[in-house]
Amino acid sequence: MINEDSQKPEIYISSEEIQQAAVRCADAVNHFLEDKSGGVVLVCVLKGAIFFFSDVLKHLSQIKDCELDVCRVKSYENDSSTGRIEVLLDCKAAVEGKHVVLFEDIVDTGLTLDFLRAHFEKRGVASLMVCTLLDKPSRRKVSVDVEFAAITVPDKFLVGYGLDYNQKYRLLNDICVLTNSQ
Ligand code: IMP
Ligand code: MG
Repeated sequence: MINEDSQKPEIYISSEEIQQAAVRCADAVNHFLEDKSGGVVLVCVLKGAIFFFSDVLKHLSQIKDCELDVCRVKSYENDSSTGRIEVLLDCKAAVEGKHVVLFEDIVDTGLTLDFLRAHFEKRGVASLMVCTLLDKPSRRKVSVDVEFAAITVPDKFLVGYGLDYNQKYRLLNDICVLTNSQ
């Protein structure tokens, strides 16, 4: 548990580095969609991926037949995974037979993504690409496929650019680590 009163956010990944990561991600998505025919659904995993999603969208080239959607799952309380995944809002788009690209803020234990992959595969997607801004592989509890991970990070709790600690710090432009200010 983090003692919030003595914490101040310190820049860990700058907004410039994040923007470069968004461009790299868009390149990977453009490449993935190159040979795909049929509908595409781009899904933002709320709330954490909201900034990453919108920044990547600005750089996509194949935008004619793309539908945007969101889903929301909850797996976290405070700074540790509860291990329980709850669907708070399911993706409403008809994804059966479509190419789905899922955008995540961070893959940590992998439990959320493992759940989401199974969830979308059960709904009969034609293909699934998962893009995450951050990847914390040292914390994995389940092995899970991630088609694109922009930045690998060590076992630190990060906030900003959509990532929160108990709903705080999401609006920071940089990704920060909470450090002890005392
Ligand atoms: P997982 O199921 O453990 O992989 O966790 C996935 C979710 O936990 C992410 O989508 C985040 O919302 C949250 N999370 C994991 N690590 C961090 C972190 O360092 N900062 C903020 N949220 C995190
Ligand atoms: Mg998340």
